[in-house]
Amino acid sequence: MYSPKVLETEHYTNRLFRFRTERPASLRFRSGEFIMIGLPKEDGKPLLRAYSIASPAWDDTLEFYSIKVPDGPLTSRLQKIQEGDDIIVAKKPTGTLVLDALKPGKRLWLIATGTGVAPFASLVREPEVYEKFDAVILTHTCRDVAELQYSKKLIQDTLEHEFLGELAQPKLRYLATTTREPFPTMGRITTLIDSGVLFEQLDVSRWNSSEDRVMICGSLEMCKDVAALAEKAGLVEGANSAPGDFVIEKAFVS
Ligand code: A2P
Repeated sequence: MYSPKVLETEHYTNRLFRFRTERPASLRFRSGEFIMIGLPKEDGKPLLRAYSIASPAWDDTLEFYSIKVPDGPLTSRLQKIQEGDDIIVAKKPTGTLVLDALKPGKRLWLIATGTGVAPFASLVREPEVYEKFDAVILTHTCRDVAELQYSKKLIQDTLEHEFLGELAQPKLRYLATTTREPFPTMGRITTLIDSGVLFEQLDVSRWNSSEDRVMICGSLEMCKDVAALAEKAGLVEGANSAPGDFVIEKAFVS
């Protein structure tokens, strides 16, 4: 176990915050992977949950994006961390939302709801993504506009970044949607995919297995529902051991 110090915290709403920690020198991971992190319990034993690493593999700090659950065993405490505190980070990162799990393709779709955007915050800042794909499209669906702040800033910062900006500007696209508050594009991502509105808005063809590769991250139900739509379009699920056309991972929830 590592115990890096918290460097920065930022709260967006009463449900969402992000924090940055030191990166242990020997911690290696692939952009898009998750790791167990947490805090010590009263008895001194670690209380850990799986969190996607939101920072890219090249970054010398670690970023995490988290929900705050008032009576959640970990997040009720984690939401109170401050600069200078120690957290616990386990040693072995893992996960399927990695470039290695996808076959080569033309367009990379990163489909997120809620805190499911975290692994994609890592990937949109990963230069290899722009070497491998002609277009990288992040969709983020949240209940209301305030919950979109993290991804909006992520995209802005990536496009303006000293080195990444040049790679991302011609390829990175972002579509934000809400389900419970008026916004230019509204609706669940499943509805927008099924109706074709998603593709019309972006002026691209519907998913096909020769061009499109899809990564999905959100609640279990959302992952299942989007995966079913990917399969309906003829896409085949991939894994680290057998790369495919789409991959899914449930976002941290409790
Ligand atoms: P909705 O408002 O219709 O429930 P949450 O904050 O609960 O994790 O939800 C994040 C977003 O994911 C919300 O906009 C929510 O829409 C949407 N969502 C929840 N379940 C599904 C699903 N099965 N398929 C697609 N979108 C979903």
